[in-house]
Amino acid sequence: MPQAVIIIGTFDSDGTPNAMNAAWAGTWNNDEIVISLGSHQTTENLKANPELTLAFATKETVVPADYLGLVSGRKVKDKVAKSGLKVEKAGKVKAPVFADFPMTFECRVARMIDESESGCFLVAKIVSIDVDEKFLAEDGKPDLEKMHLLTFDPVHLGYLEIGGRVGNAFSDGKALNTPRP
Ligand SMILES: Cc1cc2nc3c(=O)[nH]c(=O)nc-3n(C[C@H](O)[C@H](O)[C@H](O)COP(=O)(O)O)c2cc1C
Repeated sequence: MPQAVIIIGTFDSDGTPNAMNAAWAGTWNNDEIVISLGSHQTTENLKANPELTLAFATKETVVPADYLGLVSGRKVKDKVAKSGLKVEKAGKVKAPVFADFPMTFECRVARMIDESESGCFLVAKIVSIDVDEKFLAEDGKPDLEKMHLLTFDPVHLGYLEIGGRVGNAFSDGKALNTPRP
């Protein structure tokens, strides 16, 4: 906790875009994300084509993001069309980008750990990051505070909006790190 609300985008073998919600995910390495992935249409798609996008759901996209976690592409082939999300092609990988999300990581599968019939731990390497200009800070880097990103509440099954900045990392603690006289 907190768990980001991530939308995994893949293509089915016939080119239909698919997307699923994943909140059991985290940082594996500087440029790698790990996701606890069950057995889904997404899992099948990644075995056929190990390329994907990871986008971060927002306050404005709660309904489609949750829908993508309730319904499987195995049963509802046009789930992405039904979600209302706008689909574009990624620049660097063969996977869909959903323009409604402020930030998208274009990724390739680096490893599938502990693979079994029930899924795996997917390690995805980030090859590119797409961010709309309006979500950039003055220094040209992504401004997370502008994005209204969500965190999943596993206790009461809610989506919470991540709040504002309250401190400076690797810096505020220095106030207590005064040299002994
Ligand atoms: C809030 C939320 C979080 C979820 N997190 C995960 C997750 O981390 N890993 C996973 O395998 N499934 C997770 N799911 C379930 C999948 O999103 C769901 O089974 C989806 O229908 C799979 O879609 P697909 O079969 O079209 O790939 C989550 C669902 C919701 C609503």
